[in-house]
Amino acid sequence: MSANDINRQWLLNGRPEENNPVVLDEHFKYNEAPRPEVGPGQFLVRSMYLSIDPAMQGWMRELADYMAPMKIGDVMLGRAVARVVESQHPGYQVGDLVYGVFGWQDYYVSDGRDRNGIPVNKQPKNAPPTAVLGALGTTGLTAYFGLFDVGRPVPGDVVLVSGAAGAVGSLTGQLARLAGCKVIGIAGGPKKCDWVVKDLGFDACIDYQTEKVADRIAALAPGGINVFFDNVGGSVLEAGLANLAMNARVALCGGIAGYTKIIPGPANYMQLIMKRARMEGFIVVDYMSRWPEGMARLSQWIAEGKLKETVDVADGFDKTPKALIGLFSGANMGKQLVKIGDDPFS
Ligand SMILES: NC(=O)c1ccc[n+]([C@@H]2O[C@H](COP(=O)([O-])OP(=O)(O)OC[C@H]3O[C@@H](n4cnc5c(N)ncnc54)[C@H](OP(=O)(O)O)[C@@H]3O)[C@@H](O)[C@H]2O)c1
Repeated sequence: MSANDINRQWLLNGRPEENNPVVLDEHFKYNEAPRPEVGPGQFLVRSMYLSIDPAMQGWMRELADYMAPMKIGDVMLGRAVARVVESQHPGYQVGDLVYGVFGWQDYYVSDGRDRNGIPVNKQPKNAPPTAVLGALGTTGLTAYFGLFDVGRPVPGDVVLVSGAAGAVGSLTGQLARLAGCKVIGIAGGPKKCDWVVKDLGFDACIDYQTEKVADRIAALAPGGINVFFDNVGGSVLEAGLANLAMNARVALCGGIAGYTKIIPGPANYMQLIMKRARMEGFIVVDYMSRWPEGMARLSQWIAEGKLKETVDVADGFDKTPKALIGLFSGANMGKQLVKIGDDPFS
């Protein structure tokens, strides 16, 4: 049997505990299955890159209503970019570059839909294969719709972005700069802070591990924050709420500080009242009908050199669980991907 006949898989082997929801190696089990057969009306994809997302911790715990449920023993859910390597489906040709929720495995047989029941999309022409998992995928679209539709910045606004060196945050800050705003990031450690300022063009970045975040926001934005795009929650959310400008908008994208331990809600939420502010959560899939609009704008900015893609690629299928676990200790800079195979058509 050759390597091409084996379908490597990571199966869900356990769920993070309710009271201590840390993702552990033991929650995954390696498996080798035969390469799947393709029937009439189906096609077979071979994945090259897997997208690694903090939300997977919630998918493992079945907390996300927008994701297919997962039983113990199922292939771990996840987005991937892949090549069509066999096809008996009129809409997909061998060699097409496609993306969707194919799971943590080499091969997936599709009837035109992914494991989430969503039509398998073809990669836009001329985009690098990783783009649809990062800046042109749900990561970029989260930054785009969360910032522009929920945060609604206007030129001259001060925009605060937490998780600034992460996948969504690193793009959000750049988009806010494109919208003519002053952008302050919050990230963990001097290396990440340097990167978002020097390479990505943020105006400033606060190291939440060593600095007093609320005091630093006040010093950098004496007039207050007009838009707060929060990826973190907990004490970082409180520091932002303590510094809102009148009529501020708080776009709640994520709360990663609370994914692996139980944290209390913001004690100072009354600031929303005092500042006549709006705090609104959103999920990127709610904007699916407008994804083409977002992708077109994001592609244009990338092509014009105005938006930098930020990918952090781990090499090797065996690295996949560790790549997810690493998100919760800040191991990544930009979008975490895992390369699991070469392009079968290169
Ligand atoms: N609403 C939506 O539709 C949507 C879609 C995608 C993602 N999200 C959410 O957006 C957030 C960012 O997602 P992403 O894909 O861009 O991942 P990401 O930011 O790349 O996630 C990993 C980063 O989170 C930070 N982090 C981890 N634990 C932390 C803690 N306890 N306190 C503060 N920071 C912590 C780390 O950076 P540091 O080194 O800076 O700590 C780490 O590098 C997540 O909360 C995710 O669930 C929401």
